[in-house]
Amino acid sequence: MREIDRIIESVNYIKNKLGSFTDGLNTAVVLGSGLGDFVDNVEVIHTIDYKEIPNFPTSKVKGHKGRLIFGRCKGQKILCMQGRFHYYEGHPQVDVVLPIRVIGKLGIKNLILTNAAGGTNPDFNIPSLMIINDHINFSGYNPLIGDNIEELGPRFPDMSNIYNNDLTEMLKLTARDSKIDVREGVYMYFSGPSYETPAEVKMARILGADAVGMSTVPEAIAARHMNIKICAISCITNHAAGVSKSNLNHEEVLEASEEIKDTFNRLILNFVENIGGLDE
Ligand code: HPA
Repeated sequence: MREIDRIIESVNYIKNKLGSFTDGLNTAVVLGSGLGDFVDNVEVIHTIDYKEIPNFPTSKVKGHKGRLIFGRCKGQKILCMQGRFHYYEGHPQVDVVLPIRVIGKLGIKNLILTNAAGGTNPDFNIPSLMIINDHINFSGYNPLIGDNIEELGPRFPDMSNIYNNDLTEMLKLTARDSKIDVREGVYMYFSGPSYETPAEVKMARILGADAVGMSTVPEAIAARHMNIKICAISCITNHAAGVSKSNLNHEEVLEASEEIKDTFNRLILNFVENIGGLDE
């Protein structure tokens, strides 16, 4: 089956379940490791498990639930992806980005990508929040490799403004008004699943990265290809390898996400409200 037909099949399945809810649904949030509780702030209208959607892969990572949640918060319609797919799970990159393409075809115009990341910038507090203003794709892979899907976007999409300036400015203003400290920086994508070595982290720092992680970049590239506006935020859950002396583990990442999640939820909620104002 052609990729576009797989995408349309998934879209049709979801549309059938949702009825008219997709009208005026413009904003989606992808919730990263340990951040899925954001949906507690959403008045849930529909939930669809990934496993029931044709062509969707299934999420296997602890802290990732694996479902689409359609609801309302702060007077806005919103779609939350609770759980995402990673290249390191063994999913081909076209599958990693399939949900993004599907929600794009559902009509999403503004996409908020979130993740947990290691700070390469030694000045970052742990835990803390970093708005991603650019990225370095260090995975050696790109989700757009293969025949271009003309129905989605051009062969050679521009990435100069991948993290949309207007949305990013609005996120910064939202943080300021909400009295939430956020930093800004460059996110460097490694395939994982092993954490980086201290030498890799040193390289990342020299190349201009402030944080390293194993997600977000394929999704951002696929969304930009479709001309979706993106902004992204990392929860800096640890200092990356070698920045601090301690060893890394996923439990520590989840604990740090837990510690910062109320602040993160408040920021995203206020941001969703402000994005709603854009559409009016
Ligand atoms: N490296 C890569 N991914 C991560 C890290 C890290 O240090 N922390 C959370 N996700």
